[in-house]
Amino acid sequence: MTSGSLVAELVPEATLDALRAIVGSANVRTGEAVTSADPGWNPDNFGAGIVVAPGSTEQVAAVIQLCRDHQVSLVPQGGRTGLVGGSVSSQGQIILSLARMNAIERLDPVERVAVVQAGCTLETLQAAAAEHRLEPGIDLPSRGSATIGGMVSTNAGGIMAFRNGVMRHRVLGLEAVLADGSIMTDLTRVVKTSAGYDLKHLFIGAEGTLGIVTRVVVKLEPLPKATATALFGLPSVSAALETIRLALDTEAGHLRAAEALWQSYIKLAASAHGWSEPDFPLDQPICLLVSLGGASEQALYDEFERLFAEILDRFPEATGIIASSKQQEIGLWRLREDTDVIYRTHPASPSYDVSVPLSEIDAYVAHILRGLSEIELDLAPYLFGHLADGNLHIALNRTGPLSDSMASAVEAVLYNGLRERGGSFSAEHGVGSKRIHSLMATADSTKLSAMAQVKAALDGQGVMNPGKVLPLKRR
Ligand code: LAC
Ligand code: ZN
Repeated sequence: MTSGSLVAELVPEATLDALRAIVGSANVRTGEAVTSADPGWNPDNFGAGIVVAPGSTEQVAAVIQLCRDHQVSLVPQGGRTGLVGGSVSSQGQIILSLARMNAIERLDPVERVAVVQAGCTLETLQAAAAEHRLEPGIDLPSRGSATIGGMVSTNAGGIMAFRNGVMRHRVLGLEAVLADGSIMTDLTRVVKTSAGYDLKHLFIGAEGTLGIVTRVVVKLEPLPKATATALFGLPSVSAALETIRLALDTEAGHLRAAEALWQSYIKLAASAHGWSEPDFPLDQPICLLVSLGGASEQALYDEFERLFAEILDRFPEATGIIASSKQQEIGLWRLREDTDVIYRTHPASPSYDVSVPLSEIDAYVAHILRGLSEIELDLAPYLFGHLADGNLHIALNRTGPLSDSMASAVEAVLYNGLRERGGSFSAEHGVGSKRIHSLMATADSTKLSAMAQVKAALDGQGVMNPGKVLPLKRR
């Protein structure tokens, strides 16, 4: 028996019957109904083979109570597009799908607030908010599959984090079901509340290990009437950071996105999409995809012309193109967002997600390029990411998985000293099951001990997503 994982035997038929009594037979899927569905990013997401889909918070609470009584652990799932194995499940567990709880319960354009159930996708909320010229203030490439509950549980970041913060800063209140089946309701719809410990933050980024998030109050932001996008080719990281500084200081509109695509990545993406522009050779060290939002496309286009002139003043070798139609804008964004091209080229390419303080990025990138090539001469990263907040995505030009020794060597290059630089080994993808050893290796020991105490206090029996974020605790 382990305290972190309940016994890994088959879930008894009596437990399944009791689950059916709570959520209805149609909402307990097993066998073919599970294996024929898309498991999402990780083929082991459906390892448990049993998916239970409650339709209300009360049903979630009843399912959790039942699992606790029957000594079965739960793995919550949202869009199943997480990259670090946070939704991986195995035999003897039950998958808790929030897919049926996908309603937008309230969207108030005066309050600029939405109250949504956990299974609502980001794209659905974006579309509903857009009808009121509002947006959730957070955006990421997997918007069509990512659910608000999953984004809360992983503290998702994405493209606009430099401007609006990460999920933690978008959530005003939430409701969560705890491991004992009790329901914590904190659906405040106000920015300011200093009423004791702000426990919602425990559940944000906890990846379902402390409770199940069922409803969320999301703060909304005004949606600009128009957007425009440009791609700049630049000689260095510092030139890209200087471009961001200039773009933050626009006269018309505001900066909505500044995404970096290093040369190796943009060449791969451009070739996969058959994208080429005669005036835009892909031989610059780094490209920056910049989007502005404002009152009119013409004003933003003019702003880009002004910005490009300023860039050329400082970096005469810079290149730039401004999208002159929505279609071109979408085409430029596709180069950035279709990162699957890496995995089509190098199946299961080992990938990493670090945060680096802006002033350290140049040195950090030089360090990892050198360190990787010392492991194997042609080992190199595809680099891209959210440059304005320092979040770099790194995928290796290798088919995964790496051997254990090579994986350790790579992680040493990428992670050693990163915390001391003021960065993080996991920027926005979480810890899941894949990054536990890195958390253990790099986190402050007092923090780790406090995390274990919080887990023991809220889920001593190990019902909630055991073996994620923290290692299983053997008795
Ligand atoms: C992105 C994901 C990988 O930014 O976080 O494309
Ligand atoms: Zn990202």
